Amino acid sequence: MKRILTALVLTCTVSLQSFAQDIFLENAKFRVGDDASWSGVSVDESSWRNITNTTTWTSQGVKCENGFGWYRYHVNIPKSLLEKSDLKETVDFKMGKIDDADEVYLNGKLIGKTGRFPSDANGYLGQWNTPRLYSVKVNSGLIKWDADNVIAVRVYNAGDPGGMFSGPVCVRVPNTIDNLSIVIKEKNLTPNPSTVGEGTAVCTLNSKMDATKSGVFTVKVQDPESGKVLTEKTQKVSVNAKKSRAINLPYDNHQMVRIIATFTESKTGLSTTTQYIPKYILTPAAPAEPRFNTTPLYGVRPGSPIHFRFGVSGEKPMKFSSDDLPNGLAINPDNGALSGKLDRPGSYTFTVKAKNAKGEQTQKFTIRCGSKIALTPPMGWNSWNCWGLSVTQDKVISSSKALIEKGLADYGYCYMNIDDGWEAPKRNADGTIAVNEKFPSMKELGDWLHSEGLKFGIYSSPGDLTCGGYLGSIDHELQDAESYNSWGIDYLKYDWCGYGRKHRTEPDNQTVASYVRPYLLMERCLRQQPRDIFYSLCQYGMAEVWKWGHAVDANSWRTTGDITDTWESLYDIGFGQQPDLYPYAQPGHWNDPDMLIVGKVGWSNNLRDSRLTPDEQYTHISLWTLLASNMLIGCDIAQMDDFTVSLLCNHEVNAVNQDILGKQAQRVVLDGSIQIWSRPLSDGSYAVGIFNVGPSDARVDFKKYFKEMGISSLQSVRDLWRQQNLSTTDVNYFIPTHGVKYLKVRF
Ligand code: GAL
Repeated sequence: MKRILTALVLTCTVSLQSFAQDIFLENAKFRVGDDASWSGVSVDESSWRNITNTTTWTSQGVKCENGFGWYRYHVNIPKSLLEKSDLKETVDFKMGKIDDADEVYLNGKLIGKTGRFPSDANGYLGQWNTPRLYSVKVNSGLIKWDADNVIAVRVYNAGDPGGMFSGPVCVRVPNTIDNLSIVIKEKNLTPNPSTVGEGTAVCTLNSKMDATKSGVFTVKVQDPESGKVLTEKTQKVSVNAKKSRAINLPYDNHQMVRIIATFTESKTGLSTTTQYIPKYILTPAAPAEPRFNTTPLYGVRPGSPIHFRFGVSGEKPMKFSSDDLPNGLAINPDNGALSGKLDRPGSYTFTVKAKNAKGEQTQKFTIRCGSKIALTPPMGWNSWNCWGLSVTQDKVISSSKALIEKGLADYGYCYMNIDDGWEAPKRNADGTIAVNEKFPSMKELGDWLHSEGLKFGIYSSPGDLTCGGYLGSIDHELQDAESYNSWGIDYLKYDWCGYGRKHRTEPDNQTVASYVRPYLLMERCLRQQPRDIFYSLCQYGMAEVWKWGHAVDANSWRTTGDITDTWESLYDIGFGQQPDLYPYAQPGHWNDPDMLIVGKVGWSNNLRDSRLTPDEQYTHISLWTLLASNMLIGCDIAQMDDFTVSLLCNHEVNAVNQDILGKQAQRVVLDGSIQIWSRPLSDGSYAVGIFNVGPSDARVDFKKYFKEMGISSLQSVRDLWRQQNLSTTDVNYFIPTHGVKYLKVRF
């Protein structure tokens, strides 16, 4: 709901003097299913439920993934509306955003359609982010003046969430100004953040009027903190339906700004305004000299093969070497991949050197060879949030190559994990698991990843079937663990799903032991393998998994249901469900609030930009690093833009996630929309995230919370995103809606 409010504030077109003649409809009758007769005027709605369009049907308890639902609105349209319009040509139905495709009927007649249904020629096309506007001619005979009109909306949803969600439907007889609209898009996010950021906002005025309309088009870049206008352009423009007018507006894309465009029509004096928040890069560019970015501590069990890559940013090519490598280990001089094994337990410390044309750097590094792995949370990629079940070996390879080329491997991202969708429909005759045609060779894929110092992950279920309906491991646990070993698997995500059917029939299914059982079984099979396999439990937090996950030697456990790329989901999972879980995280065993939702995601072959605003994305990464969460990138890395790279590759931010103390943040302040989360770090300082989860920008005086946080005075304050020291006395911060001030403090 809060996300929706902001979305409205950001994108609504304001034509103040038109408001008087608008009719707003928020509530409808609703039914899941699909029946052509529901478009008609007389339909028995007595068994239909009430629903609002201010938030998705999913968040109102409707279960309808990959299916149809219908909304029906009743509205009296008074003839007097006509008198208030200077045009009197059409009645407009502004339906807002609809997730994902729709058809709208007025009194039984189709008046508009956006997106495509699966049965349409060319197949399904989702358009969740497009505001719908359908028009009917005043003299079409379709409108029943001063009487009840029925607006019936047929909605198809692919994946959750679904339905109408961006607020009231608006019925209006438009003025000239209502037929003029402004679209703002950003282009050219500077590829190299070290040059002064040159973003360009393209503000386009579009007209639906055939006749030429003239007026004044003003576009400006505003600093939301000071309200100061940083750049402004004003032009007299004329447009008609065949012509749109664009003004390009440059801005510094290293700064949080708002782009505001207004057109005032000369004849009526009415104006329309649109606001847009562009992406902005805070992470400073890495120096050209080598810089070590990964935690210098790594856990391995005796005899297990080591696959590790030293994360070092800086100009390439780069050479890696070490004079005191423990026996049994080798470094690939060209990519910094460490390989080999250690047979005896102990702590092995050595120095690694990275050298390029600009300079060299060394770092002391310790391998702790013992019973524990995952001494810091895993960093890497998983195929689910982007590709869903359409994952292929080629897609894994393309994201892996991009991980290296775009420099993410230089920041410690190393696990490349295939989620659901790799299994063949039938096992081999000997009972071993078979891969489907999308994965020609798991062994070759594993070998290649390891040669790059990366790691290889896979997915299965303790049940007969996975969530996607592929084969699970039931009754073949040891065989599967052996296959994983032979392919070189380093990470197993083990997803409850189909096991639920078996569990329901078990006599002790009320007990924690019944939830532990399938996970313990697989743990024993994994531990028989001569390699370290990160064990990731996925059962959505059932039976308080955080209380027993470590007992089945899980390295992480999902604490919630699936995340999706909306503020509601991020808020619910991150802020709603994590506050009490901090006592359960520790080196080797981590709470997992699910994978990252930045970049291009889509859970299918159709990828889209994350629906989170730039500030929500800063909040997401800040909170996940505070939570000592798994940092698994969920987007297609090959299509990752520089903004997303900058979010994921800030070594000071990531250092919080990877801190070797391994303490998860606690929520230490809850003050209306302001929440402060804090975690102690191994160097004696604290990482502190001050979050504004409210619908409007806020000013926060950090001092106000000192007492609550046990701070008497501050010795140092560092802005982690900007990597800059800040004043220890002036601690008053502007925090945009859904945004964060992320600090490292000493007190
Ligand atoms: C869900 C799981 C997702 C994904 C999916 C695959 O149960 O939570 O993260 O793995 O199954 O079908």
